[in-house]
Amino acid sequence: MMFSRALFVSITLFAQTGEVFGRCRTQPGDPGFPSTADWATLNDTIDGRLLTVIPSAEVCAQLNCTEAQWTSSVFRDMIPGQMNQYNWEQDYDAVPPELCLRNGTTCAQGNVPLYAVNATTTEHVQAGIRFAARHNLRVAVKSSGHDYLGRSTAKNSILIWVHYLQNITFTESFRVDGKDLGSAVTLGSGVSMQTIYPAAEQVGKMVVGGSVATAALGGGYIQGAGHSAFSPILGLAADSALQFEIVLSNGEVVTANERSHSDLFWAVRGGGAGSWGVVTSVVVKTYPTFNATEYVVLLSFPSIDVVTSVMTSHAKHVFEWGDIGHYYTLVAEPAGIFLEFSAHFPNTSGAGAIALMEPFWEEAQALGASLLFNSTTTSLANERVLSSDDSVAMMGVIGSRLIPARAYQDIPGAIGQVHGRLIEMGYVISGNVIAGGKVAENANISSAVTPKWRTAKGHVVVTSIWNESTTPREIDVVREAMTTQAVPMLANATGEMDSGAYSNEADVREPDFQSTFFGDNYARLTVVKAKYDPQDLFIVGAGVGSERWDDDGLCTI
Ligand SMILES: Cc1cc2nc3c(=O)[nH]c(=O)nc-3n(C[C@H](O)[C@H](O)[C@H](O)COP(=O)(O)OP(=O)(O)OC[C@H]3O[C@@H](n4cnc5c(N)ncnc54)[C@H](O)[C@@H]3O)c2cc1C
Ligand SMILES: *[C@@H]1O[C@H](CO)[C@@H](O)[C@H](O)[C@H]1NC(C)=O
Ligand SMILES: *[C@@H]1O[C@H](CO)[C@@H](O)[C@H](O)[C@H]1NC(C)=O
Ligand SMILES: *[C@@H]1O[C@H](CO)[C@@H](O)[C@H](O)[C@H]1NC(C)=O
Ligand SMILES: *[C@@H]1O[C@H](CO)[C@@H](O)[C@H](O)[C@H]1NC(C)=O
Ligand SMILES: *[C@@H]1O[C@H](CO)[C@@H](O)[C@H](O)[C@H]1NC(C)=O
Ligand SMILES: *[C@@H]1O[C@H](CO)[C@@H](O)[C@H](O)[C@H]1NC(C)=O
Ligand SMILES: *[C@@H]1O[C@H](CO)[C@@H](O)[C@H](O)[C@H]1NC(C)=O
Ligand SMILES: *[C@@H]1O[C@H](CO)[C@@H](O)[C@H](O)[C@H]1NC(C)=O
Ligand SMILES: *[C@@H]1O[C@H](CO)[C@@H](O)[C@H](O)[C@H]1NC(C)=O
Ligand SMILES: *[C@@H]1O[C@H](CO)[C@@H](O)[C@H](O)[C@H]1NC(C)=O
Ligand SMILES: *[C@@H]1O[C@H](CO)[C@@H](O)[C@H](O)[C@H]1NC(C)=O
Repeated sequence: MMFSRALFVSITLFAQTGEVFGRCRTQPGDPGFPSTADWATLNDTIDGRLLTVIPSAEVCAQLNCTEAQWTSSVFRDMIPGQMNQYNWEQDYDAVPPELCLRNGTTCAQGNVPLYAVNATTTEHVQAGIRFAARHNLRVAVKSSGHDYLGRSTAKNSILIWVHYLQNITFTESFRVDGKDLGSAVTLGSGVSMQTIYPAAEQVGKMVVGGSVATAALGGGYIQGAGHSAFSPILGLAADSALQFEIVLSNGEVVTANERSHSDLFWAVRGGGAGSWGVVTSVVVKTYPTFNATEYVVLLSFPSIDVVTSVMTSHAKHVFEWGDIGHYYTLVAEPAGIFLEFSAHFPNTSGAGAIALMEPFWEEAQALGASLLFNSTTTSLANERVLSSDDSVAMMGVIGSRLIPARAYQDIPGAIGQVHGRLIEMGYVISGNVIAGGKVAENANISSAVTPKWRTAKGHVVVTSIWNESTTPREIDVVREAMTTQAVPMLANATGEMDSGAYSNEADVREPDFQSTFFGDNYARLTVVKAKYDPQDLFIVGAGVGSERWDDDGLCTI
């Protein structure tokens, strides 16, 4: 049966189930969608900072971007409608698909928001949220557009763009209700990794952040958990959170910490990005900075069998290296199969790092791999995790699983085997061996970080990419294979029936996202959600409460 959206809205309004609004968000063409005059009034209340939003390919066509600009996350950061993986700007599922491609043949709005509030103050955010709530609009919130699940863009939405909330203030003693919680920094939610690391270095400090130039520490990163190369010694970013300033769905600003709105504080620390309100600033602990060695190795493999045996050997060796966070990328290219490996050793010289890991590299070579390159670089930790830019503007999806420490101990062969099989199937694999140590010790912190992080050792991600020539039908096949083949294979290598995943780097189509991303915390998260966002203004893919909404977050189901 087909209802027009307007009819559907009026039927549900008559039904009066106690909800203030009907079952759909108001979209262009619907009665009640803000008029040009309404938008102008909003613009006046936000100092003329209302933007109309354009897909990134269209912006780049207008600016005549170079290829280097198009793929630079630093350059793209100035474009409100951009997503780093610009497939999220496309609406492949519309009939016909609404795409805006770089090759310039077609440009539709797709899943790019319609308007954006370019906020520089908390008041701008409040005005935007009040307007959206009053007019029953779909809301998107974006700091950097790094999101791998596409959660910072939404079709027919108003975007609250916090990129220009850039304040940074350090203190030696951050106090909550008179209690001294020690050295900390207050960050606007637009502050990126490449801004905070050098700022912290200036005052001899370090924060828990990612190795990515433009992701925002106080945006989605910390709300999802936030892992770092130094997490084994410093914990997760959410563990270091002391306070959040949040604009709620009713437009009120609240301070959430262990004393004030402690239930919200619990939820925002790991309970999922974009589901609670608009974070305008966060306070995180700072740590004395330290020297660290980054050890980079490049291997090549003659065959899938060697990938399997070397990754089995890797799984057996991980505990020998103590609390050394390390990353690897495995990829099959026409020129061969390669492993790019990078490990971070706090307070260790280059020679010390090599001595600790050399037995593994010798074993890898004995198993048939070739060592193509290796290097060590020692400097302050801040510089070792800092990237000056990220190469982005890809199209694709990812899927992942947290791999328990117990799996590395008990079933290293299954871990090696799944690497080999996924490479054979054409996936790119990124390993993040950044759990254990402090991540495990912090299990007693009261937060919504899934308990699976506390028993994990690694976080393994698989990626499938496509390009502008790939048809929507082919893309469907790729997305389906991620959800129904690749991720279940990874899950099998966790040795657990109820395996878990990191909600910020995962498949947005994860079928059981409630338990996979949030575990037993989900029930309490829904209670906090109902209290602080009773109208579901903040809905994101695979986020708390999203099961009530369609994929676009436009109508309840
Ligand atoms: C190249 C790359 C490298 C990465 N490396 C790491 C890593 O080392 N460690 C790690 O843990 N993760 C990493 N990630 C994942 C990262 O944590 C997520 O992409 C995260 O969502 C980024 O947050 P953001 O706010 O910058 O992104 P955005 O895309 O702007 O937002 C992500 C989500 O957070 C919400 N959000 C953003 N800002 C706010 C706000 N102010 N208030 C409320 N909600 C908000 C959005 O609505 C969306 O749901 C990486 C991602 C990429 C693309
Ligand atoms: C908002 O106002 C500013 C300043 O008057 C103007 O430049 C801008 O175009 C307006 N935005 C929209 C969406 O109309
Ligand atoms: C676009 O930029 C390229 C390279 O910078 C230049 O060669 C070309 O003339 C420019 N085109 C337009 C229309 O400005
Ligand atoms: C958003 O606001 C910032 C700060 O005022 C400004 O520098 C930037 O140009 C604005 N962005 C757009 C796209 O208008
Ligand atoms: C940024 O800091 C300035 C100076 O302390 C302050 O006036 C302003 O309100 C802060 N902005 C935000 C968004 O917190
Ligand atoms: C880092 O190493 C340099 C050079 O050895 C040294 O001067 C500096 O004090 C060290 N810094 C820290 C924080 O240990
Ligand atoms: C590094 O060494 C210094 C000096 O011994 C010590 O104070 C500091 O705690 C160490 N830091 C780490 C992260 O190991
Ligand atoms: C790496 O390079 C150094 C010299 O540059 C060498 O001594 C060392 O043995 C190499 N091997 C490994 C596995 O790092
Ligand atoms: C957690 O336990 C550690 C000791 O393992 C202790 O130092 C820390 O204070 C505890 N934290 C909380 C929040 O209970
Ligand atoms: C642009 O991409 C579309 C979609 O793949 C394709 O149909 C079209 O031929 C391309 N046009 C050019 C000029 O490359
Ligand atoms: C683009 O993707 C298609 C598969 O969808 C593939 O056949 C083609 O080789 C890719 N093109 C490039 C330039 O990577
Ligand atoms: C699950 O892992 C086992 C090894 O532990 C392997 O034999 C089996 O083929 C895997 N199944 C799938 C579906 O990947």
